[in-house]
Amino acid sequence: MSNREAKPFFGDRVSLTTQNSKLKTQNSATDWHCHLLPSLDDGPSTMAESIEMARLLRDAGYETVHCTPHLIKGVYDAGNEAVRSGVGELQTALDREGIELKLHAGREYYLDEFLPHYLQDPLPLGDTQFILVEIPHHAPVELVKETLYRIRQKGYIPLIAHPERCKLFALPLPTKQGVWEWFKVQGSRFQDGDLLDSQTLNVEHRTLNGQSNSLLDYLIDLDCQFQGNLGSFAGYYGDRARASAGRMREMGLYSCFGSDGHNVEGLREILVQGAPSP
Ligand SMILES: [Fe+2]
Repeated sequence: MSNREAKPFFGDRVSLTTQNSKLKTQNSATDWHCHLLPSLDDGPSTMAESIEMARLLRDAGYETVHCTPHLIKGVYDAGNEAVRSGVGELQTALDREGIELKLHAGREYYLDEFLPHYLQDPLPLGDTQFILVEIPHHAPVELVKETLYRIRQKGYIPLIAHPERCKLFALPLPTKQGVWEWFKVQGSRFQDGDLLDSQTLNVEHRTLNGQSNSLLDYLIDLDCQFQGNLGSFAGYYGDRARASAGRMREMGLYSCFGSDGHNVEGLREILVQGAPSP
């Protein structure tokens, strides 16, 4: 599919609304993206480390964690059954330790040519219809569009992991000329001293200087959802990701957040910053 006009109606909008409200109401106490399970990917290598990470999350106020090990062909290949049994074993250990954290099985799917095969037996996040997808910088744009379109067609909702870290979603920087042109147009609309409401600002951010990120716009139109990484806002991944995260948050892009924790030290550093509001 090469243009957004070809996008069909995806059926049950009520279902999408229900899913979104589930996502938003669970937001404040839920970590939507965490590599908490031991020995399945580049997360913790021992059960003891997983338990320590879980304790950090509980102490930070989290009640629910979606355990999302990578699924990358030839790199991290653990099957869904290994994830489900890993969640069961860790949940038992946490219950034994008195750490009140509810775990759910999930995946962080890597978007490449092998993803359609894995989606024949998808593992969404907990009892939602969200499929967490990581999009690498080098992914061909048409493959991204096609794959996420197919996920929607199957009745699932792509939840895009940390878009602020992906160069494919880079937003154009506002130029001096662009800001001035924008001000001239907007000034005539607000001569009575009205304040710009946040919704107006969000729209204008997307179209400042007549520019926008067309892939991002396409995914928004496709009803994809977006998960921000807590660490991005504090510069854990560098200045560029921090700036992108700030702008995407101003746009109202994010539906939810995740620690994307991989180990005790990294998670501790990320949690110190706290969770922003979507
Ligand atoms: Fe991750």
